[in-house]
Amino acid sequence: MHVTSTLLAAAAAFSSANAASKGFNYGAFFGNQQAKQYVDFKYEFEAAKELPGTNGQFTSARLYTMIQHGTANTVISAIKAAIDTRTELLLGIWASAGSAVVDNEITALKNAIAQYGPAFTDLVVGISVGSEDLYRITPTAIGNGETNPGAQPAELVNYIRRVRDAIAGTGLAGKPIGHVDTWTAYDNSSNAEVIANLDFIGVDAYPFWEVEHDNSIGHANATFYDALQKTRNAAQGKPVWVTETGWPVSGPNQGNAQANAENAGIYWHDVTCSLLSQGVNLWYYTLQDVQYGQPVPSFGLKPGGDLKAVSPLFDLSCPAGFKPVSYLFPLTLSPALSPILLLLLYSPLLFYLIISSLLPNPRSCPSCNCNRNYRSSETILFPSQQDGNYFRWIARTNRICEDGKCQFKT
Ligand SMILES: *[C@@H]1O[C@H](CO)[C@@H](O)[C@H](O)[C@H]1NC(C)=O
Ligand SMILES: *[C@@H]1O[C@H](CO)[C@@H](O)[C@H](O)[C@H]1NC(C)=O
Repeated sequence: MHVTSTLLAAAAAFSSANAASKGFNYGAFFGNQQAKQYVDFKYEFEAAKELPGTNGQFTSARLYTMIQHGTANTVISAIKAAIDTRTELLLGIWASAGSAVVDNEITALKNAIAQYGPAFTDLVVGISVGSEDLYRITPTAIGNGETNPGAQPAELVNYIRRVRDAIAGTGLAGKPIGHVDTWTAYDNSSNAEVIANLDFIGVDAYPFWEVEHDNSIGHANATFYDALQKTRNAAQGKPVWVTETGWPVSGPNQGNAQANAENAGIYWHDVTCSLLSQGVNLWYYTLQDVQYGQPVPSFGLKPGGDLKAVSPLFDLSCPAGFKPVSYLFPLTLSPALSPILLLLLYSPLLFYLIISSLLPNPRSCPSCNCNRNYRSSETILFPSQQDGNYFRWIARTNRICEDGKCQFKT
């Protein structure tokens, strides 16, 4: 029993180290400019993990700033909320408001490290210096009414160096430093020097806005992947993370693009589900954006009201098979782990996991929707909790769909 749980812990640790980030973007304030407090962030992070049809996968939070809204340089309360909910963090340094604000961001970053230590730093998957600052200085943005000054490439390079210096020798040393911008900013060779200074590239891409092309929902998947490919081409071999994408649930049309929940559901099904299945780091835009405000268009997959009580506006389950548990292969092949290789190979549990991973169409989702009656036998990853730690276990089970309801029986 002890050996089994040790193996489970090893497998879980490895899978969580290797698993892609999946989450949402979290602003620092509500639609009425009211600052989000600890309880608000905590509620949002919990609600993301409870989203029906997603199997608790949305456990990562991208922030835009380290500063509590309305203060000079107080640590944002999202940090404590993330610690208390075990939420992964893609940190943000706001870089479109000049050098002095970047100093305040760095002060808050250092204070968070000093105050919370590893409970904080262990949750951090990366730090983005800036968000769409290069987009803001383009003629397109200014033509769209952008008044925020953004940042020049040379300024961003300077900010990136300052953040690198600030985390050297701290618990965040070695965490990847990146930048978030629109795909068009990376596709612009004038910004190559910024890319050269990064560890990861965060890309924002919204086919909805691409009125230069046919931007109807039927073309959205192709337009998104075209933008992702152009970003990868410009990325100088660095990993590309999808830091924002989504389709609006309401608002005026843009060219051929219509903002409604049905199209947002199609976008989720095509783009979000395919990114999840490929293991691409993804922060969707967004969970809820209408609280105490009326954004036009609105991208929130949940309507206004009590975030945990209201239902998503479209089905979030991904019907196609998710990625198999291939993380087990590197585990057994890693030279560092070779001393336990034999033990692992002789473990019936691991043997079963490897065999399971070879079976077709594994599902990661114990909940399901169905619109026709059927029975099938499938391999499913279930999340489970033991002693406060999350494990995944795998079971062969029968999916039974009857009258639109779906259940799993072993
Ligand atoms: C390309 O990038 C440069 C530097 O960021 C910017 O000044 C310029 O406006 C961009 N060009 C276009 C067409 O967006
Ligand atoms: C979306 O595009 C990607 C990349 O070309 C492709 O792999 C995927 O099958 C497409 N999905 C849909 C639903 O068309």
